[in-house]
Amino acid sequence: MSFNYLKQSWETLARTDAMWAVLSDDEKKGGRWNPAEFFETGRKDVHNILERLDHWKIPVHRGRALDFGCGLGRLTNALASHFKSADGVDISSEMISRATELHRASTNLRFIHNPHRDLSQLADNSYDFLVSLITLQHMPERISLGYLREFPRILSSGGVAYFQVSSFPDAANPAGRAKLQRDRDLTTPLYRAVRKMVAPRPPRMESHYCRLSRICSLLEQANTRIIAVLPDEAFVGPLVSHVVIFRKP
Ligand SMILES: C[S@@+](CC[C@H](N)C(=O)[O-])C[C@H]1O[C@@H](n2cnc3c(N)ncnc32)[C@H](O)[C@@H]1O
Repeated sequence: MSFNYLKQSWETLARTDAMWAVLSDDEKKGGRWNPAEFFETGRKDVHNILERLDHWKIPVHRGRALDFGCGLGRLTNALASHFKSADGVDISSEMISRATELHRASTNLRFIHNPHRDLSQLADNSYDFLVSLITLQHMPERISLGYLREFPRILSSGGVAYFQVSSFPDAANPAGRAKLQRDRDLTTPLYRAVRKMVAPRPPRMESHYCRLSRICSLLEQANTRIIAVLPDEAFVGPLVSHVVIFRKP
């Protein structure tokens, strides 16, 4: 998957059925999400995250929060009621303009379009808390590692990051085994040659994983303190999901 394909796919998904692209519940496909229920899920997710951190006595300064891969601001909006201000950043201009419109009444929210492979638009040491859910799992490892490398830079000293990532295919799940096989095929020269000859793929939401060993070594190199790496039972499917929590010293 190229970076341009990733970008174009999310523009198309946002234009077609934005709420379903964010929370892909089969019953809600075709514009059937009720906006109030949709945003309530975000309030619950943020409440659970903050409660979890509180329970483990991981203090978080309630200054500036960032939601990476914010979509329609489902989590950004909820973060804004717990923090002084919240920014949401997304690759899709369509998601960003819809989020801006949906939350125009909130004064401590900001949505930033970032169609780049890095976060150079975001200043060093600017966030006390960073959250990212159901975003990194949709991009190939080489792209997600590029952003993860920047998370420590944009956090302020003492800042905490809480992110979810798919970490490996579940070999116990038939779809997980099929994904493993497909990924092996993708690396063969024959497969790559055939792919170059066929027509471009239509935009779609892809699932990818990023190895925990890669994430942890990157965070260790950045001198962050990894607080926890936890299996995330909320995500069931062909990929195993984890939550990673770290603090910038
Ligand atoms: C499934 S939605 C989740 C949205 C939000 N995190 C939530 O939980 O409500 C994934 C979002 O990630 C965004 N996204 C995908 N790749 C991205 C990237 N490279 N940088 C920033 N956002 C990205 C998509 O545009 C989409 O809005």
